[in-house]
Amino acid sequence: MGRKFYITTPIYYVNDIPHIGHAYTTIAADVMARYRRLTGYDVFFLTGTDEHGQKVEKSALSQGLKPKELADRVVVRFKELWEKLNISNSDFIRTSEPRHYTAVQDIFKKALENGDIYLGEYEDWYCTPCESFWTEMQLVDGLCPDCRRPVEKLKEESYFFRLSKYQDRLLRYYEENPDFIMPETRRNEIVSFVSEGLKDLSVSRTSFSWGIPVPVNQSHVIYVWFDALTNYITGVGYPDNREMFERYWPADVHLIGKDILRFHTVYWPAFLMSAGIEPPRRVFAHGWWTVEGQKMSKSLGNVVDPYEVTDKYGVDQFRYFLLREVPFGLDGDFSHAAMVHRVNSDLANDYGNLLNRTLNMVRRYLGGRSPSKGTFSDRERRLIGDIKQATADLEERMERLEFHRALETIWGVINAANKYLDDTAPWTLAKDPSAKGRLETVLYSVLETLRISTIFVYPFMPGSAERIWEILGLGKDLGEKRIPEDVEFGLYPEGVNLPERAIVFPRIE
Ligand code: MSP
Repeated sequence: MGRKFYITTPIYYVNDIPHIGHAYTTIAADVMARYRRLTGYDVFFLTGTDEHGQKVEKSALSQGLKPKELADRVVVRFKELWEKLNISNSDFIRTSEPRHYTAVQDIFKKALENGDIYLGEYEDWYCTPCESFWTEMQLVDGLCPDCRRPVEKLKEESYFFRLSKYQDRLLRYYEENPDFIMPETRRNEIVSFVSEGLKDLSVSRTSFSWGIPVPVNQSHVIYVWFDALTNYITGVGYPDNREMFERYWPADVHLIGKDILRFHTVYWPAFLMSAGIEPPRRVFAHGWWTVEGQKMSKSLGNVVDPYEVTDKYGVDQFRYFLLREVPFGLDGDFSHAAMVHRVNSDLANDYGNLLNRTLNMVRRYLGGRSPSKGTFSDRERRLIGDIKQATADLEERMERLEFHRALETIWGVINAANKYLDDTAPWTLAKDPSAKGRLETVLYSVLETLRISTIFVYPFMPGSAERIWEILGLGKDLGEKRIPEDVEFGLYPEGVNLPERAIVFPRIE
């Protein structure tokens, strides 16, 4: 077994049905997981649902359901969506599962035993939508500083985690691991937050019961964020499956949205340090989507339903759009006009058209059979050089989760092939019987560039890439190909029968 790669998404609350925000993180994680498999890693990819806490309990009660009943219903919506979006997760974790209770109680107990958790009283504010504690000072106009919704006053007995004790260790960890928090702006935000000083954190509640009990005191349930964050270790076998845990932990990347950064980069590493477990290697926070220029909200009725969008434009079109349209880490806007534009210009024109003009010429000039490569000229060597460079650029950009730039790199190859066709003009060569060898080399080279591009495209649009792979007569094993071995120039087989045309990305009118 080679190098491992462990990637996670947030686990999603079951009080809400899936929307574009959930789809975004999960698709990004899937692309990264698929790319790492292509590059030879042993990948573990975890997603799931966050089912405990006051917010879920309230939402269930308002629908006349038990929290677990609500969770059982909503979890199906998530699982079905991931199937529809072609998400290749290795496991799906629900925080209501017994294996998760074991893990949460285990690390809670470790912190209790080493004195990092003590009993006290919490008297301050709480934001249920964010499941977050606030002091009077932190409120903005009496509202939650994160989501600007009303908060409620709490006064109850509570266990506290000695977060204050971890201030220096956290700052040192950020310092020694400059890529722990990405992008950089987010890192600066957290460094200054922690530098200002940390207060101990309330980690249990007594005023409701939907959660995991504190192991030594059944009248308390463990704070939902302590519970939820632990999913990342439960999912790789903690505490009972040592072998699996040692293989995959620490996580290589936790992908999250910018709103839940503090939980992942302050609380989570502190809990782990307390339990003597290594913190994750990287937390990457992406931006938020607005819709046609407006904040997405239930009351505005503009929540983008991933089921609807994919029915309308296609799964891969949606995956492509989300990762191409906006630099990963920044906020972006979803609009139908932008979606249509991307599909028509990048997919139908650049990629789809390259495939079709190539198939068409192979049919007309070579009877639909793939030629032999013949002898490469300087022009082919230039194309080969571009592809080599792109392979290296792709790795560098993917490693930093720069998906939009990775796609630019891939489209650089596709457009280099389009340009190559314009330069070499096979339609002219075809008129000259003495240029038959040259014509074959040119068409071979475009077919070969299409083959390689399709491997590059696979993590982003797996379904379409697999279809193109078959159209190119290459079989059904695209998912088993490897970068860099299989993107060497010159592997396209001779004598394959090719169709005359294939519409993989229809234009949207
Ligand atoms: N349950 C917690 C996460 C626990 S992880 C240990 C949670 N769940 S959530 O369902 O509310 O949100 C999940 C993710 O959706 C967050 O990463 C959040 O950033 C993301 N998004 C919610 N709305 C979004 C947009 N409009 N745009 C992009 N992502 C957004 O938080």
